Amino acid sequence: PTCILIGAPIDTGQKREGCLMGPAAYRVAGLAQSLEALGQSVIDHGDVTPAPLRETDCANPAVHHLAETVAWTEALAEAGEEAMAKGLPIFMGGDHSLSLGSVAGVAAHAAKVGRPLFVLWLDAHSDYHTPLTTQSGNLHGTPVAYIAGRNGFEAFPPFPAPVPAERICLYGIRSVDSAEHAGLLESDMTVCDMRVLDERGIVAPLREFLDTVRAQNGLLHVSLDVDFLDPGIAPAVGTTVPGGTTFREAHLVMERLHESGLVTSLDLVELNPFLDERGKTARLMVELVGSLMGRKVFDRPTRSFG
Ligand code: ARG
Ligand code: MN
Ligand code: MN
Ligand code: MN
Repeated sequence: PTCILIGAPIDTGQKREGCLMGPAAYRVAGLAQSLEALGQSVIDHGDVTPAPLRETDCANPAVHHLAETVAWTEALAEAGEEAMAKGLPIFMGGDHSLSLGSVAGVAAHAAKVGRPLFVLWLDAHSDYHTPLTTQSGNLHGTPVAYIAGRNGFEAFPPFPAPVPAERICLYGIRSVDSAEHAGLLESDMTVCDMRVLDERGIVAPLREFLDTVRAQNGLLHVSLDVDFLDPGIAPAVGTTVPGGTTFREAHLVMERLHESGLVTSLDLVELNPFLDERGKTARLMVELVGSLMGRKVFDRPTRSFG
């Protein structure tokens, strides 16, 4: 399929400046060229413009930039739904609040074509707050709750066809706030935290999830937060948490995703180029997308891994 690059320079989901430079950094790091070198066709859609601001309010006074984030959500949902009809959208963020919109667009498309949507959330954080439970007020900590259809998102467009919790898999988790924890315990979401991945390895739980997606002929949206990676290899993120995935684990996840043939849309989020070291995080993210789209160290004619 054609890769459709969608720039989403949204930074209203948190308080640190810099994520708005993300799409530019991916372009400078050669994302399109790297995909073309793999034989993919690529369209760069350019950057999305947020919808006009509407009046919004929220009972939680900590929440900030609500109207701006709603405006981005509307525009990204529209861009996402449109791109799904044409190819494989790659949303270049921007902080993780971009997924409020990207996944809404993808879900609208999934409902239209009548296929179940699955979501793989590669992140240090569970992002399962609602606008009413967040203490930081940072809306980048809320998209999983919006996607799963939790209450508290009255300021946002109603999520089209909320994704049942058992179709969402959180992977790489190592920071969960207590309100998120309580909510997750009440849901059937698969939470592969670092404890699980240390015990079982990086591949086994992923394989199980991918088998479920395949068995149900699902669409698969992958949301890759830079902080899924260990801060030592990916410093350009505002919310670093120690103990993240290694270079090798992250590439292996991407290679498995490629071999599954199941991925139909992708978010690249939380890159803050202002915090980077000579572009190393942006370059690593581009390399990871390369593995996801088929780069191999050694291309075996038949698959030889179980
Ligand atoms: N749970 C914390 C909060 O609500 C951190 C969220 C971090 N989210 C992210 N997308 N990096 O503020
Ligand atoms: Mn601001
Ligand atoms: Mn996140
Ligand atoms: Mn995160």
